[in-house]
Amino acid sequence: MKTLWIFVICLALITSAKAEIRLGVAAPLTGTQAKIGTDMVQGAEMAAAEWNARGGIRGEKVVIVKGDDEASPKQAPVVARDLIGKKVVGVVGHFNSGCTIPASEIYDESQVVMVTPASTNPLVTDRGYQGVFRVCGRDDQQGSVGAKFALETLKAKRIAILHDKTTYGQGLADEFKKYLEKHGVKPVYYAGVPKEELDFRAIISAIKQTQPELWYFGGIYDQGGPLLKQAKQAGLTAPLMSGDGLIDTALIQTAGVDAEGTLLTFGPDPEKRPTAKAFLDNYHKQYGQHGPYAIYGYDAANIILHAVEKSGSTKYRDITKYIHNTEFQTAMGPLKFDAKGDITDTYYVLWTVKDGKFVLYDEAKK
Ligand code: ALA
Repeated sequence: MKTLWIFVICLALITSAKAEIRLGVAAPLTGTQAKIGTDMVQGAEMAAAEWNARGGIRGEKVVIVKGDDEASPKQAPVVARDLIGKKVVGVVGHFNSGCTIPASEIYDESQVVMVTPASTNPLVTDRGYQGVFRVCGRDDQQGSVGAKFALETLKAKRIAILHDKTTYGQGLADEFKKYLEKHGVKPVYYAGVPKEELDFRAIISAIKQTQPELWYFGGIYDQGGPLLKQAKQAGLTAPLMSGDGLIDTALIQTAGVDAEGTLLTFGPDPEKRPTAKAFLDNYHKQYGQHGPYAIYGYDAANIILHAVEKSGSTKYRDITKYIHNTEFQTAMGPLKFDAKGDITDTYYVLWTVKDGKFVLYDEAKK
C-alpha cells in the first residue's frame, strides 16, 4: 500500500512538473546592452502573463526561461544549448545578429523554432533554415532606405562611414555603402572600430578631416552615445545617421543634447498603430516607458505561443508549418512570413532625435 502511495505521489509530481509550456528568451541581460535585452524579455513576459490569465495553453502554464547571451557570439550557442536542455518549445531571440546566427545553427540542429525580434542581418534568414523567423526587417532594406534618404533628401555627397566590426554593424554599413556606390557616391571615409572601444578621438579626428556632410555608424547605442559626445567635443558638426541599433533612450541619456538631430532608420511608430494600443497601455502600467524592441519581443512570443496552441502541438514540424502558413494579428499589425522566414511587409522609416526624444523625421520637420 505504502509503495502504491509513493508511486501515486511521484506520478503526481512528474505530471505537475510537466504541466507547463516553456518559452525561451535569449538576449543580452548583463553588460552595456542589458537595457535593450531586458525590454525584449519584458515584452515576452507580458505575452506569457496574458496567456496565463486566459488559462494558459491547453491548461498548461506558460513559463519564460531567460538566457543571457551577453551580446557575445561565443556565449550565444552556450545559451542556445542551455535553453534546449530546459525543453523550451521555442526561443524569442536573440538581439544581436552576431549572436542569432551561431545560435540558430544549434536551434536548427535540435529542431527548436526561433523568432528573433531584432536581428536584421540578411544571413539570419538567407541560410534557408525552416524554423528561423524574424519580426523585424533586414539590413539590406534599412541600409538602402538610409542611403536613399541621405542622397535624395539630404543631398549629401561627402559621406563618411564607420562600423563596429560586428556582423550587424559592418553588415549594415556595407549595405548603406553599396547603395551609395550604386548611385555614384563613393564614401569619403570607411573604417571599423572594435565594439568594446569607447575612445573615438582619433577616429573622429580622421572623419572630421574628410569634411563630411553626413557620417554613418553601423553599431549599437552603447558606443553610439559616447561617439556622439566625443564628436561634438571635437567639433564634428555633420549629422550622424545610423540604424535600429542606436534607437534606445540610453543613447539620449548618454549623449544628452549632443544626440539632437541624429538620424535613424527603424520600423514605424507603435504609438500610431491602433493594434499596439493595448500592448502599450499595459506595458507602460507594468514597466514604464517601452524601449524599441519591447513590442517586437511581445509579438515574437505571441507568434510562437499561438502556433503551439493552434497547431495543437509542441513539435518543431507542426509549429514551424503553422508559422509559415498563418497571418498573425500582432501588436504591430497583421504579419505574414515569406518562405525564408522574413516578414512580407517591411517598412523602415526615418527617425530623428528632437528635444531629447526619438520622433519620426517627418513629424520633427512639421
Ligand atoms: N538589428 C541589430 C542586429 O541585428 C540589433 O544585431
